[in-house]
Amino acid sequence: MYIDCDDKELFILKKIANAAEEIGVPSCVIGGFVRDKIIGRPTKDIDIVCIGDGIALAHKAAEKFNPQPQVNFFKNFGTAQIKVDDIEIEFVGARKESYDFNSRKPAVENGTLEDDQNRRDFTINALAISLNKENYGELLDPFNGLEDIDKKIIQTPLAPAQTFSDDPLRMMRAIRFASQLQYTIEEKTFAAIKENAKRIKIVSGERIADELNKILMCKKPSVGFDLLYKSGLLQIIFPQMVALAGAEYIDGKGHKDNFYHTLQVVDNISENTDDLWLRWAAVLHDIAKPVTKRFEEGHGWTFHGHEVVGGRMVPKIFTQLKLPQNEKMKFVRKMVELHLRPISLTKENITDSAIRRLLFDAGEDFDALMTLCSADITSKNKQKVQRYLQNFEMVKQRCAEVEEKDHLRNWQPPITGELIMETFNLPPSKTVGIIKDAIRNAILDGEITSDYDAAYAFMIQKAKELGFTM
Ligand code: CTP
Repeated sequence: MYIDCDDKELFILKKIANAAEEIGVPSCVIGGFVRDKIIGRPTKDIDIVCIGDGIALAHKAAEKFNPQPQVNFFKNFGTAQIKVDDIEIEFVGARKESYDFNSRKPAVENGTLEDDQNRRDFTINALAISLNKENYGELLDPFNGLEDIDKKIIQTPLAPAQTFSDDPLRMMRAIRFASQLQYTIEEKTFAAIKENAKRIKIVSGERIADELNKILMCKKPSVGFDLLYKSGLLQIIFPQMVALAGAEYIDGKGHKDNFYHTLQVVDNISENTDDLWLRWAAVLHDIAKPVTKRFEEGHGWTFHGHEVVGGRMVPKIFTQLKLPQNEKMKFVRKMVELHLRPISLTKENITDSAIRRLLFDAGEDFDALMTLCSADITSKNKQKVQRYLQNFEMVKQRCAEVEEKDHLRNWQPPITGELIMETFNLPPSKTVGIIKDAIRNAILDGEITSDYDAAYAFMIQKAKELGFTM
């Protein structure tokens, strides 16, 4: 076998080869599995292409395993899947495909193995391993995919314009593979992406989101985002991020290029977290800088309120990019809104009250917020970075001390709105909110302790001031 498989994989491939021989259908393993084995990356699914009926081969192959796996098949697409242990195996008959220019609906005909390799996106994804008796285990590489792996190059098997026109998502896949594998996109292939970038509009938002997330989960996501920007794809799928690019100058005073600053923050955070949503928070932390930018005479460039405006932009961007509208979105919004708070604390004398408020507002996401804030330090000046980091450590230290004393991180105010309404026989109203806020502020400002009795006594006193009695 040309590729290095473990015993379980060899066992599976042999069974499939036997099944294929029995029903007289030539077959091979193709695509990502072969590519990743050659590169030495962990592999996931196995894709099998046969010259004939893929569904029939899947049924025959399933019979060879004990216990016999269930065959899931899709007659319309001519594909079938079985799962052996944790390995998903997909079967399909070799195809010759052409696509309607305005949709993603392929017109499919049966084809040869070469036809099937032709219609694949990149040379490195068109590699196949024969499962046939006469050349079992041999590499079938009509487009020199192996050489491209060696040279670390992404290029299409056919003319790139054709391959990208067949499925415009492949433009994003090229960039995603370049970013994941740290490969270069071949010149003509990249030129074709630039030329065809607008065609990305016919691709569903969900497929685009999937690729964006994969780029964001790379070791250095900046590589992928920069290629998206340089190809013109980012301008179409995520214009708000492109608006961060460039620096304006007035009276010789400029501001930093917030696009490249953002990419640096994303790379920094990726060294410290695999949480996709915290990485999204890094992408979006300064997203409102372009819309809040002002030049103030004698002062320079300011971006006042960009954290609040940015927070408000998060739900809209999540909708636009087909990212989930759930707790994850709320988390990202919260991170964007709070991303300046720890830094503002390093500037002045820090009061316990300010620390308590930060702990309360960040709650269980305090550590994530601190990870974002340290990633946000991108100054080239080593001394400055050193100073920021030291200040930061001080804030963390103070937070730890206050937290130990007051336990505010996952704290809920001890008096609920219901209790206030019950005690004073009040309907739901503004007054209830005023009393509740007053209790919370008194605790955060350290006027009273955070336990129930202190809060209850304070509630009675506050209500009295407002003219209510029990
Ligand atoms: N493929 C293609 N065009 C696409 C998607 C997939 O030509 N738009 C082909 C490629 O040959 C690819 C194979 O189908 O190798 C399997 O696709 P998929 O599982 O999506 O990708 P992988 O290459 O396996 O990589 P990953 O799992 O990282 O997405």
